[in-house]
Amino acid sequence: MNLFRTKPANPAAFCDTGLKRCLGAFDLTFMGIGAIIGTGIFVLTGIAAAVYSGPAVIISFIFAGLASAFAALAYAELAASVGGSGSAYGYSYAAFGEIIAWMVGWDLILEYAVSVAAVANGWSGYFENALTAIGLGLPAALTKAPSMGGMINLPASLIILMLMVLLIIGVRESARVNVAMVFVKLLTITVFIAVAGFNVHPENWTPFIPFGWFEHGADGRPIGILAGASIVFFAYVGFDAVSTAVEESRNPQRDVPIGIIASLIICTLIYIVVSGLLTGVVSYTKLNVSSPVAYSLQILGYNWASALVATGVITGLTTVMLVLYYALTRIIFAMSRDGLLTSKLARVHPVRQTPVRIIVICGVVISLVAGLVPLGELAELVNIGTLAAFVLVSLGVIVLRLRQPDLPRPFKNPFGYTLPILGILSCGALMMFLPVVTWIRFLGWLAIGMVIYFAYSYRHSHLGAKPKA
Ligand code: ALA
Repeated sequence: MNLFRTKPANPAAFCDTGLKRCLGAFDLTFMGIGAIIGTGIFVLTGIAAAVYSGPAVIISFIFAGLASAFAALAYAELAASVGGSGSAYGYSYAAFGEIIAWMVGWDLILEYAVSVAAVANGWSGYFENALTAIGLGLPAALTKAPSMGGMINLPASLIILMLMVLLIIGVRESARVNVAMVFVKLLTITVFIAVAGFNVHPENWTPFIPFGWFEHGADGRPIGILAGASIVFFAYVGFDAVSTAVEESRNPQRDVPIGIIASLIICTLIYIVVSGLLTGVVSYTKLNVSSPVAYSLQILGYNWASALVATGVITGLTTVMLVLYYALTRIIFAMSRDGLLTSKLARVHPVRQTPVRIIVICGVVISLVAGLVPLGELAELVNIGTLAAFVLVSLGVIVLRLRQPDLPRPFKNPFGYTLPILGILSCGALMMFLPVVTWIRFLGWLAIGMVIYFAYSYRHSHLGAKPKA
């Protein structure tokens, strides 16, 4: 058996594609912002401040942002040199070999699918509030999963089906809708910053570090600034989705690194400002609510601004789902094109130039899961999966530089191996601060993946049919 057969890093893949090349640096940066700003800042900041970090949640954001930045630079280097729509899966295929690539791909499927379903649950809560506010509230049975006493979370299910249709129509159209919605999201954040900026009470920042750096709470779960960082890390998940757009970019070797790095920088700055202001206007002890940003404006008496932020959350979470769902389909596309999942999936629609079969299957499955399973609590599972991918991508930079020193690298991390090593250490450390139950779920998912690999993928791999590399 040759479990570590590698696929050559192949800059030729930059031209060989059935997908439509229509995205530029602007679209890619907006895709990044679309995927990044969402539940993390609009929802988790409150819990992170109230339960994990206190006002020092701003430091949690800076730590998680730094770890993401190291990983983003690694993604940028590999996206520009390895190519392919498979992102970390494809880089691992070139750097480490097939079995690791499969596990990374399997892990990314978990990351993106669970995030989309979980965000759909959060989204439906806001949407339902908005409907109720205008007198069109749905019957309770249609807004809750069966285990919560309802029949189905209909809004969560339907939004996924609508995004499915959009993604089928085309990537250019999806990118345009994304840009429009990202503008709304950025506008509402600007309004929050403007209003909150004039209402800060510095005494709210004291005590600044009420829960320490790394402690254990009453229930044994990790708390403190570092545990807070591993929770708010969810807010950064998504820039990696940009790297799945390589085959749909007009000039991927230039624009994909720009999209990844620019979107991350913009969002990190926003997060630092928003989390600092949020804990400045309201005491962190009051922030354990489902919509802390809108809530803080309500407390200040700005009901119009609070309603506007709620609108921003609805559009904002929609773009998160759209881009992460997009990324999920492109990862599966790459995996099935390599034979690790059935290659029947890897057909591109001749007119729409999108992988329609994969989009439909993913849409139907996620729509059912989002409608029937209450998934709000799974951010930590997404974090561990994403962090694992970030560690491997950072390691991949080092391995590929050693194995293929002459590969053209249009974007190269400065300072030798320093930044990828920092990426491995910081993302690895954030994984350590996650609860044990998250680790168990994650390892369970990988174990299922291992079974599928040996039962199906190893024998169907297209690489297996060729002379071994
Ligand atoms: N970063 C995305 C969010 O915060 C996943 O919703």
